[in-house]
Amino acid sequence: MTGTPNSQVFRFIGVARDNSKVKPTGDERAANRAALIIAIDGPSGAGKGTIARAVARRLGFHHVDTGAMYRALAWKALHESIDLTNEAAVSAVAERAEFDVIDGRVRVDGHDVSVAIRTPQMDAAASVVARQPAVRRALVERQRALAALGGVVMEGRDIGTVVFPAAHVKIYLDASPEERARRRATDPAHASGKGAAAIQEVATALAERDRLDRTRATAPLAVAEDAIVVDTTTLTIEEAVDSVMELIHQRHP
Ligand code: DC
Repeated sequence: MTGTPNSQVFRFIGVARDNSKVKPTGDERAANRAALIIAIDGPSGAGKGTIARAVARRLGFHHVDTGAMYRALAWKALHESIDLTNEAAVSAVAERAEFDVIDGRVRVDGHDVSVAIRTPQMDAAASVVARQPAVRRALVERQRALAALGGVVMEGRDIGTVVFPAAHVKIYLDASPEERARRRATDPAHASGKGAAAIQEVATALAERDRLDRTRATAPLAVAEDAIVVDTTTLTIEEAVDSVMELIHQRHP
């Protein structure tokens, strides 16, 4: 469980030098911090969105929601009446569409889809396109390009394992299935029914989506070897954000 050598990270931001043996100066440290990549992975309802946004705000970093990218792609493909299981057609959309999933915006080709993508139908649709290797190749390339933004808190399923295996800090957020279902069912940003029956319905759908995310052949949801697992089941949002901030400071004083 050691930190990632800076040399690997510098490769991502295109600075061609090996910084691992040289003590950085103050200016270099500031520049390095500005290019930090914090990867936050985990299943639905673990608190990734809320926590990643708050951490990005505290650090003055950009927040990137890669799940929103898969959702926006599914929305765009459906909008164009494309069969979601047609990998060639869906990945062609992934390659040509413009996605903006930074700092709370969710736009695809200029359309604001921030509300339209948070429905049970879009949960299922995003999961279908996220299983396709050609789609993942196209979107991962776009996600990597966002390192150029500088300090980034990127949330998803494979950020620490595939997108940025050399991310400076990797956090894996988790929570019990019951708590995750309760959060999802009561999330005002997510359209679903209310009450105990709705929670049960959400729990069933969530368990199935988790199973698909964990068992798919390409980039399954998994804990990166050097990730720190934070269980948020009994934590308030404030406590969870504080724990993640503390871990970031420990890894990157
Ligand atoms: O985090 P979310 O529920 O908005 O993600 C939507 C879907 O996209 C979900 O099925 C998981 C998938 N996803 C993924 O496969 N890889 C990512 N980096 C982010 C999300």
